[in-house]
Amino acid sequence: MGKRLILGRVLRFEASPFVQEPETSATLINGGGVLIEGGLISEVGDGAALRRKHPDADVDDTGGSLISAGFVDAHAHYPQTAMIASWGKRLIDWLESYTFPEEMRFDASEYARDIAERWLDLITANGTTSAATYCTSHPQSVDAVFEAARARGMRLFAGKTCMDRNAPKALCDTAQRAYDESRDLLLRWHGEGRLSYVITPRFSPTSTPEQLDALGTLWAEHPECLMQTHLSEQTDEIAWVRALFPNARDYLDTYESHGLLGGRGLYGHAIHLEPRERDRLHEFGAGLVHCPTSNTFIGSGLFDMGGLKSAGHHVGLATDTGGGSSFSMLRTMAATYEIGQLSGRALHPAELWWLATAGSAEVLHVGDKIGNIIPGMEADLIALDLASTPAISQRATRAVSFWEEVFPTIMMGDDRAIRQVWIGGEKV
Ligand code: GUN
Ligand code: ZN
Repeated sequence: MGKRLILGRVLRFEASPFVQEPETSATLINGGGVLIEGGLISEVGDGAALRRKHPDADVDDTGGSLISAGFVDAHAHYPQTAMIASWGKRLIDWLESYTFPEEMRFDASEYARDIAERWLDLITANGTTSAATYCTSHPQSVDAVFEAARARGMRLFAGKTCMDRNAPKALCDTAQRAYDESRDLLLRWHGEGRLSYVITPRFSPTSTPEQLDALGTLWAEHPECLMQTHLSEQTDEIAWVRALFPNARDYLDTYESHGLLGGRGLYGHAIHLEPRERDRLHEFGAGLVHCPTSNTFIGSGLFDMGGLKSAGHHVGLATDTGGGSSFSMLRTMAATYEIGQLSGRALHPAELWWLATAGSAEVLHVGDKIGNIIPGMEADLIALDLASTPAISQRATRAVSFWEEVFPTIMMGDDRAIRQVWIGGEKV
């Protein structure tokens, strides 16, 4: 693998825009360059100077495109790709009417492989270079997506979705089978190239206390792994959890009391949190994953980004396909902005971009590897056209600052804005 030099307008974060002034949190290098060697970023700087210094590098000159770290989707359900945009239900009946029947099809490995490839094609076209995904309860659904990601050299996080109650029999395992099958997959896949196994109880309503215990035990045996689940998404769901776990202090306690609260835990949605839940999640440094297009599509509620970030929580951004209504992290940023507005906090474009790259990488505990353009990091990069449609172009040309120029692409952009994608330094 030789040297590759990517030329364009290079965007790099120097600090979190939630900690430092958004306007000064990032550096834009106009006429910049990113040198890649062995799949890693080795130098970042002036494009012409890098070209003179490395005449042997293959050059990808993107013209005036914006070069950013690829987007990182911190919570998706790849098996729900083909049933995205299913009409008219809320969480519980949406799961029963659309989701479980679709997930039952993943018993067939061939179908799982087909959808895994389809999902990876779609997210890559949308500039997402890394993701954390739920699979189904079938181990073969995990093999399918890991095999597909390995062939593409993608950094992917995935796990078998464990359920042993309140779901169709064909999707249910048992506490012991959840432990055994998860462990077997973990031992086979975790740390294989760029792949990471994630211990995945779907959510408390579909796991018995015995199953939660078994997965808590597995996590304690493999603390190097992430654990992903859902938390406090809809009020009906919370009432159901209260009925199923009458002794729990709150929803989070159903995880906490079974060894499923930790700093490497990813808690999807986390909308209707009690003060105790906020405190405990913060104490553990857990990752909260905001799924804005899902929260509006399924009618779940408004995530308190302003309050949670001010309190120092770790937050990542995610599509949550197919509860989410888009494969695009640009659309996800736009929905994050809209929900912020409804909650009284106008998020700065730098904050939105950081959440979709470095913020998501941070909750996945790979903030030192992906999500930014810094020497030593993996070369998962995208080139964006900030004038990809007539509507965006006519607004962007009026801009008097960089972030004003980016904002129309955040609000109105889609896969047409993604000009080029590099995964591990290789052009896709
Ligand atoms: N809660 C439990 N399972 C799911 C799921 O598949 N999607 C969403 N959005 N919420 C869930
Ligand atoms: Zn989800």
